[in-house]
Amino acid sequence: MHLARWGVDSDMESLAGLVRGTAPTPGVSFARAVRERRPGKDWARDKLLSMFTLKAHPEKLVILTMPGVRWVFEQHLLGLRDGEGVRDGRFRNTTVHAIEREPAIYSASLKYIPGGHLKYKHISNYLPYSVCTMWTPKVHRYYCGRVEDYAVHGKEVLDAAWLDFTGPLNRELLGCLPLLWNRVRGPLIVTALNARWQKNIDSRIQKAGGCAELLRDILPGAVEVARHDYNDGVPMFQTVLRREE
Ligand SMILES: C[S@@+](CC[C@H](N)C(=O)[O-])C[C@H]1O[C@@H](n2cnc3c(N)ncnc32)[C@H](O)[C@@H]1O
Repeated sequence: MHLARWGVDSDMESLAGLVRGTAPTPGVSFARAVRERRPGKDWARDKLLSMFTLKAHPEKLVILTMPGVRWVFEQHLLGLRDGEGVRDGRFRNTTVHAIEREPAIYSASLKYIPGGHLKYKHISNYLPYSVCTMWTPKVHRYYCGRVEDYAVHGKEVLDAAWLDFTGPLNRELLGCLPLLWNRVRGPLIVTALNARWQKNIDSRIQKAGGCAELLRDILPGAVEVARHDYNDGVPMFQTVLRREE
């Protein structure tokens, strides 16, 4: 899976070259677009980082993330919480589980995966829905699969999860997020496009008063504790949901 090992410079242009002739998937289009500056995204990501400093969250943190190609959030998070503190192949304060559904992006991101330069290994048949699962000393599990399947089949109990979607909510996500919610003890953060959702969920969104409000309504006991909407060309919402105390 590691393109660099095959002598391919695994940046997005190389990937675009490899997939020439096929329409770019939404994820690949997103990865190309993020080469441009996105001040809203940076601001919203920083808001989340400040929730997970050691001061704000001194307990151990087991978190699910969607890293994209460059692992910007995870690199900062690990730096903030653990510095260079790998001990016995494990980080003291933070365990990162990560997921990416697009094989091209997954491959490209292995060039930047935290800890990948130290050591990495494939975890075979770890989960039935994951095309590939990797481990590094800094990333406990990196699945090539869909959040929707992870929500249904995953077993890990998490302290937090940041679902950072490129596109809008859809009916399948709305169906499986309550299952993931049952396994997240602390905040569940959802970032998604605040537009262009499927017609079949339009009336539910209108009735709830918006996408974030609909999520709050379908997750038992959820309250919104922060909201970081932004617009870097398209409107995005970012909601932080926790269980009612
Ligand atoms: C917005 S980007 C992640 C950006 C990153 N969190 C950051 O801070 O820059 C979202 C990534 O998730 C992937 N993705 C989108 N929907 C997904 C899904 N349902 N399951 C797994 N991965 C998904 C996309 O291919 C893309 O690489």
